[in-house]
Amino acid sequence: MTVLPCGDEVLVTGASSGIGEAIVRQLRRLGTTVHAVARSEAKLHTLAAETGCIAHVADVRDHSTMTALLVAIDPDVLVCNAGSNFGGSIGAASEEDVENLVDLNLSSTMQIVRSALQGMKRRDRGHLVFIGSIAGHHALTGGNAVYHATKAGIAAFANQLRIDLCGHRIRVTEIAPGRTRTGIFAKSAGDPILAQQQFLDGYEVLEPDDVAGIVCYALMAPAHVNIGHVEITPTLQVIGGLTTVRNDQTKFKR
Ligand SMILES: NC(=O)c1ccc[n+]([C@@H]2O[C@H](COP(=O)([O-])OP(=O)(O)OC[C@H]3O[C@@H](n4cnc5c(N)ncnc54)[C@H](OP(=O)(O)O)[C@@H]3O)[C@@H](O)[C@H]2O)c1
Repeated sequence: MTVLPCGDEVLVTGASSGIGEAIVRQLRRLGTTVHAVARSEAKLHTLAAETGCIAHVADVRDHSTMTALLVAIDPDVLVCNAGSNFGGSIGAASEEDVENLVDLNLSSTMQIVRSALQGMKRRDRGHLVFIGSIAGHHALTGGNAVYHATKAGIAAFANQLRIDLCGHRIRVTEIAPGRTRTGIFAKSAGDPILAQQQFLDGYEVLEPDDVAGIVCYALMAPAHVNIGHVEITPTLQVIGGLTTVRNDQTKFKR
């Protein structure tokens, strides 16, 4: 008897901090086998010592390493969580910034799924979970267009996978969180103190455990139930609004 209806061999990417770390901790408390993937060796080894997860130090953009890992583990459940952002708009970004973000947030996820699906199809059992974002579904002020596009890609990928996999007992879940208290803001802004003040200080935001709880809820649902999409935001964060600028507020006046 397994803990999760789709099987207990779980691989979580981006497991060294934030939402991914919380998912690892909650899954280990449930008693599943968790393979935790990230680049930060020391953090992963601490997490492994504290939770009993299995640490795999790897960059998800290294496709040959990830393919070998996925073939060796052959997971029942894949939680695609690794992701990042860069500060500022596309106009101020370098070619490398754009390429790296698309690779990390979107292409690598597709490559990992490609490798993981083989075993899931063979067993006719599996669960793919994607940590998307509200940015994938809504245009937001202050957003980064490249980040939004990668997360919209994740949403489309998850939706279409459900069609492609119809007839297999493989579940697909996309979870789209709003603002969550993690290090992503500090890492992407470049100035951790400013990011803390701008995005977190004084705000009642989601905690990583709130998102991890939804992941576990979807994973624990009976095998015949697929939770396709969940949007989760802080109660004090809403989506909506319209921006209209006056002529005299434009940056380049006529
Ligand atoms: N925080 C929010 O408000 C929010 C809202 C919506 C969606 N999300 C999404 O939630 C996911 C997790 O982010 P987070 O907020 O928890 O931020 P975080 O604390 O910065 O976690 C990001 C994780 O991704 C890993 N990662 C980054 N680049 C990697 C690479 N090349 N290879 C392997 N792992 C890599 C990081 O580990 P290493 O650096 O050790 O590799 C880290 O474990 C992301 O997909 C993000 O877009 C976050």
